[in-house]
Amino acid sequence: MSSLVDSLATLVASARAAVAASQSLAELEILSAELLGKKSVLATSQKSLASLTPEERKSAGASVHETRQILESLLADKRTALEGVALAAKLESEALDLGDVVVGSVRLPVQAGSPGIVALTQVALEDVFVGMGFEVADGPEIETDWYNFEALNIPPAHPARGMWDTFYVDLGEPETVLLRTHTSPTQIHLMREAVRNNSLPIHAVMPGRCFRRDTPDARHLAAFHQIEGLVVDEGITFADLAGVIENFTREYFGPDITSRLRPAYFPFTEPSAEFEITCTICRGDGCRTCSHTGWIELGGCGMVDPAVFAAVGIDAERYSGFAFGFGIDRCAQMRHQIADMRALTENDVRFLRRFS
Ligand code: DAH
Repeated sequence: MSSLVDSLATLVASARAAVAASQSLAELEILSAELLGKKSVLATSQKSLASLTPEERKSAGASVHETRQILESLLADKRTALEGVALAAKLESEALDLGDVVVGSVRLPVQAGSPGIVALTQVALEDVFVGMGFEVADGPEIETDWYNFEALNIPPAHPARGMWDTFYVDLGEPETVLLRTHTSPTQIHLMREAVRNNSLPIHAVMPGRCFRRDTPDARHLAAFHQIEGLVVDEGITFADLAGVIENFTREYFGPDITSRLRPAYFPFTEPSAEFEITCTICRGDGCRTCSHTGWIELGGCGMVDPAVFAAVGIDAERYSGFAFGFGIDRCAQMRHQIADMRALTENDVRFLRRFS
């Protein structure tokens, strides 16, 4: 009996040392099986209780039980400690030091974006016109029929409406609200505002997005950009218009590119003209792009029709004016020799990088 107690005391001492020495959870599990398993000293001691007298069994049994508790708590404490160490090691190995990635030798493959060629062209055009004394204004992309057509002397069912295939917005009466088909309605906004504020004259350009039910091709997009010009003052003549167009052409395209006006029809100007510039591809010699004429059409222009002045309440006896409008995307295409306009909306980085 006393030998059993002695051997249990020895067991606790050697177990304490072995547990303290174990380095990993795996090692500890093996030790745990040795100390508490079926073949352990503890299990043998437990079995040997059967051969003792009831008296002896009581106190020896208590010793075995106490020993088991000591061993179990030694193992549990060590297990907790080793788990803590393992977790700390895992966190350390998985930690992501962002400072290293950004500051160190690894360079993130991120590139900042830059304005597209249409936006750059718009700014360049604005600069030219601002240099000639124009202000820059803008207007809404969603318009009523009145602004987009009627006030521009294009009444309902007027055949000229066929010039603009219109996207209508499902709002109010059918076909009364629409995506503007050109920037010309912004002229109407400016003139009405000037009448309201008694702030004539007007010298303004109005860039912006327009929409037409066109099938995109090499020279057309359904959503495109125009820049509109409007001058309303006393004594304005067609010669002023021709001078502004010519100045602009040389400023923007270069001194070897010139302009010419050809008679045309627009409901809101009278007389009206189309303005053409020297083909920027062949410099006037004639090529496929200009159908061998040496000229490329850029936009429309003319003297503001008295019917338009009447719609906005400007006295056509006192004031006269001219207007013009042309495609910004078309300008970019001509200046940068972009073969197919659809490249402007495809976001192919190889194309975008040409202009960044
Ligand atoms: N708004 C016309 C179009 O989109 C272009 C235009 C022609 C504008 C003559 C004008 C103008 O201001 O006077 O086809």
